[in-house]
Amino acid sequence: MAKTHVSHRGLQLPAIGLGTYKLKGADGAVAISEGMNLGYALLDSAYNYENEGTVGEALRISGLPRNRAIVTSKLPGRYQRREDARITVEESLYRLGLPSVDLYLIHWPNPAQGLYVEAFEALLQARQDGLISHVGVCNFLPEHLETLKEATGEYPEVNQIELHPYFPQTEALAYHRERGIITQAWSPLRRGGDLFEESAVTAPAERLGVSPAEAVLAWHVAVGSLPIPKSSSPQRQLANLRAQDLVLTDAEVAAITALGRADGRMKNQDPAVYEEF
Ligand SMILES: NC(=O)c1ccc[n+]([C@@H]2O[C@H](COP(=O)([O-])OP(=O)(O)OC[C@H]3O[C@@H](n4cnc5c(N)ncnc54)[C@H](OP(=O)(O)O)[C@@H]3O)[C@@H](O)[C@H]2O)c1
Repeated sequence: MAKTHVSHRGLQLPAIGLGTYKLKGADGAVAISEGMNLGYALLDSAYNYENEGTVGEALRISGLPRNRAIVTSKLPGRYQRREDARITVEESLYRLGLPSVDLYLIHWPNPAQGLYVEAFEALLQARQDGLISHVGVCNFLPEHLETLKEATGEYPEVNQIELHPYFPQTEALAYHRERGIITQAWSPLRRGGDLFEESAVTAPAERLGVSPAEAVLAWHVAVGSLPIPKSSSPQRQLANLRAQDLVLTDAEVAAITALGRADGRMKNQDPAVYEEF
């Protein structure tokens, strides 16, 4: 894939990945394997999605070589203690049916719990032991990233955060870029809805003859965000993937960014206080 992101430790990721939340069971495995055959290399998953087995099955039925996929999973908040984190990584690998996973992320910092440094150290150890190739986080604020750097000398290679036109995270993008941390965007389409009615989105979509979703994904690529849209349909998966080749004008990008608002998060999940286990 042409447009790639590169982390401070050399992790290379494509411009767009595939979200898998709610893709489960036999139908989920078929949907993910279809996505892989359409060209998706980066697959998102999480222990808490209860679909690591589905992702493993998708790899097998896709017929593609293992090295065509960059498999991601995530450590739940309830398993941030060192020993629990290690066992959870091992359990993820059993579920995936793989000897190692390409990218493993801490799902939420849960700062009140005070365990995310311990969890990060456990993931670095698992990397050293060959169970994980690259270590990242989700939903970390700069203060959490600096705490990791101070404690371990290392930033995570990826920070997967809520990012879409209503919450464009312009400062986080710049902050990550300066430190070689790749910004992945979760709920990059904000799960559809009102966003697809905004004229800042529909105008470029009409000009290019594409759907509002594709215009939103083109905006992500333009601002340096790596979106991981989820779709169960091969048609929408393909359209989403091809959005990386669409070119918005600077004015169109600026107009979409201007949709941002302080309360633009989907569910008010501020990582400074929100906790997920
Ligand atoms: N780290 C975290 O804390 C965190 C949190 C939330 C999500 N995530 C990850 O991020 C991924 C993406 O986020 P998300 O699933 O919440 O939301 P999303 O990708 O923004 O939106 C998914 C929704 O949009 C629809 N859709 C997809 N492509 C479309 C298109 N071209 N036109 C119209 N509708 C379209 C899908 O329906 P169809 O399936 O019917 O196409 C689905 O209902 C998740 O799957 C998960 O892997 C991570």
